[in-house]
Amino acid sequence: MKTKIILLGPPGCGKGTQAELLGDRLDFVRLSTGDMLREAVRNDTPLGKEAKKYMDAGALVPNDVIIGMMKDKIRELKGTFLLDGFPRTVEQADALAKEIDIDVAINLDVDDEELVSRLTNRRSCPECNSVYHLINKVPKKEGVCDKCGCKLYQRDDDTEKTVRNRLRVYRENTYPLIEYYRERGKLATIEGIGDIEYIYTQVSKALK
Ligand code: AP5
Repeated sequence: MKTKIILLGPPGCGKGTQAELLGDRLDFVRLSTGDMLREAVRNDTPLGKEAKKYMDAGALVPNDVIIGMMKDKIRELKGTFLLDGFPRTVEQADALAKEIDIDVAINLDVDDEELVSRLTNRRSCPECNSVYHLINKVPKKEGVCDKCGCKLYQRDDDTEKTVRNRLRVYRENTYPLIEYYRERGKLATIEGIGDIEYIYTQVSKALK
């Protein structure tokens, strides 16, 4: 099985949802730059203060900040792991390639209108980072995380205006990574629309 994987794709394509399933069922260690940055913002660290202004606007945090944050974490990785939200630019991908040779980059393909609908209806857990949806993935008790019982919240960057900016930023900066990994024979593209469990089955097949 492929054990060093990247989850690629636009905001809201389901990276976090599939990462959670891969972590729960196949013991993948998950490194999510978005979760790491949100924790830094919550803890009001210098990194959090710097990152917040970019995140709130739906822009990317500068490459040097992200690469600095990730370098040591990547060096510590052993065994089976997945990267969610990193790399997001060619510069980040080159920095990653200097540290580690990944097995596959899984690209979840979803159209823009579906992405806007998913993100504006998303609710997230601040504690365990589980994600829900007001229609597609409803928690058992309204507003409460099934896994850890914390109160769910709506991310500041999940308003329609910011989501549309995130999609524009994705197309300009992250979309070129699809070609980057295709050229290196590492790309697996999966249709990201449909039943979450069905998509998980397709992701699992891409790991064989
Ligand atoms: P980050 O947290 O990484 O956000 P993102 O990439 O925009 O991705 P999301 O978390 O919004 O979506 P997702 O693909 O994980 O979808 P999810 O599974 O939650 O980054 C946030 C910010 O941090 C960035 O904007 C940037 O500022 C900064 N940042 C992070 N990394 C960076 C980097 N490397 N460089 C620079 N800056 C960086 O699903 C979404 C919703 O859809 C959920 O409600 C879910 O329940 C639902 N859903 C999932 N699958 C399905 C399905 N099949 N059908 C219907 N609904 C579904």
